Amino acid sequence: MTVGIDDIAVYVPKLFISTAGEFAASRGIEPAKLMKGIGVEKMSIPDAHEDAATMAANAVLELMKRSDTRPKDVGKIYLGTESAVDEAKAMGTYVIGMLEKVYGRGSFEECSTVEFKSACIGASYALESVAEWVGSRARSGSASAGEGDDRIGIVVASDVARYELGSSGEYTQGAGSVAMLVKKAPKLVALDGAIGSFTRDENDFFRPLGKRVAVVNGKHSNNCYLSAVDGAFASFKRRAQKMGLFNLNANQEESVLDRLSYILFHIPYPRMTEYAAISLFRREWKDLPKWKEVIGEIGPEPSMDMFSSPEDYGKADVAYNKKFSKSKSFTEAFRSKVEPTTFFSRQVGNIYTGSMYLGLSSLIEQDLLHAGDNVCFCSYGSGCSALVFSGTVQKGLKSLKPGNVQRKLYDRKELSLKDYEDLHEGRRPGSILPYSGEFALTGIDSQGYRRYDYVS
Ligand code: HMG
Repeated sequence: MTVGIDDIAVYVPKLFISTAGEFAASRGIEPAKLMKGIGVEKMSIPDAHEDAATMAANAVLELMKRSDTRPKDVGKIYLGTESAVDEAKAMGTYVIGMLEKVYGRGSFEECSTVEFKSACIGASYALESVAEWVGSRARSGSASAGEGDDRIGIVVASDVARYELGSSGEYTQGAGSVAMLVKKAPKLVALDGAIGSFTRDENDFFRPLGKRVAVVNGKHSNNCYLSAVDGAFASFKRRAQKMGLFNLNANQEESVLDRLSYILFHIPYPRMTEYAAISLFRREWKDLPKWKEVIGEIGPEPSMDMFSSPEDYGKADVAYNKKFSKSKSFTEAFRSKVEPTTFFSRQVGNIYTGSMYLGLSSLIEQDLLHAGDNVCFCSYGSGCSALVFSGTVQKGLKSLKPGNVQRKLYDRKELSLKDYEDLHEGRRPGSILPYSGEFALTGIDSQGYRRYDYVS
């Protein structure tokens, strides 16, 4: 019995700021740096009536409608977020409160909800947990025996990525939510079951209690990301090998990377996926016969004993990465397996824990996925932790209703720099856009309890 992602819905705020133009000029940055060096063209910005809870509820509502899911079918709504709206109350209870405004009071009473906080990896841990719950029912046969619990799970990733105005993190912001239906015999991606993980205490990115924006050690965060993903990938490979996935033992000519149709990385900004791919492919390929071709094109790797100091070796190694990134083998692999996953992220920015799943929706909407494709998920969360797992695309993909993410992005309104900064600093008294057909934050009472409504 397979378990995995059955369907997916994406919510993005209707406002954005372009990184080129007024924004780049005001920050004294060359637009080319943001468009190419970082890879972000537009960043989604939540309006005054939006937060991580409204975005999550909007994504879940769309998911339930498009998949004809009824509240009584849903056993769990697990939320990955680092944009908590409360220190104690689970965001999912607010989300359920909002959904019940549409489906009726008490309609989700039997559904459990919990918030997974682990920076950008939260939703992946939520997915692991919900898939395990669904799978355990399928394995025990309780559902087929009519014992009652044949319910499905929903995983929602919802975040607002916010850094200090004028900081180097500012051009890697964004906001959005991705909701996924998790069930047995899924239509979209069946999870293969091999999971590699890596965890280490780091100060690369964190948000101390009470702070609205993250503290980030930018360059260090890139390095933590690379070593955590490398570590989790090695762990994944060992487990995949034990399970006999990808026929690895039989084929010594290829790396597991060559057997994958797509590699979905966490996407804090699209360029990061290139750094991650360089690191993985270089390590995975260098013991294979094909490495001779790479050396033939760009020369051998630098080795420590060629340099008088670790700093000089480090610089030579970075320079070699640049050469490798332009090699024929790497560019071909990157263009076909990784670059298409960043399609929406260029237009949305970082949505933290939903970014990798936004990558999945990028592949779906570009019509790039086909039944039988192997998809590898390389999830990273600062602090830091990485999870690597894989899945197989299912035939049912063809029967999914269109997600229309492209349309939603096209219909957004561009913000002026002033409106963007006012929203960022919480200085707007009201919303920029009128809203209807969506959930909205309508007030916060004197105790701090948040009031949400469905505005029809
Ligand atoms: P920066 O100082 O803007 O970086 O910080 P840079 O100056 O090195 O520039 C980046 C690239 O642009 C370089 O490319 C430049 O050469 C290039 P490279 O040399 O590496 O190939 N560049 C240009 N390209 C074309 N035309 C030009 C030009 N000028 C320069 N004219 C950084 C970048 C990402 C560090 C910063 O934006 C930041 O701190 N962002 C927030 C943290 C972040 O996103 N970290 C990513 C890893 S951690 C993570 O993913 C977790 C996270 O999502 C949080 C969570 O888990 O919850 C953040």
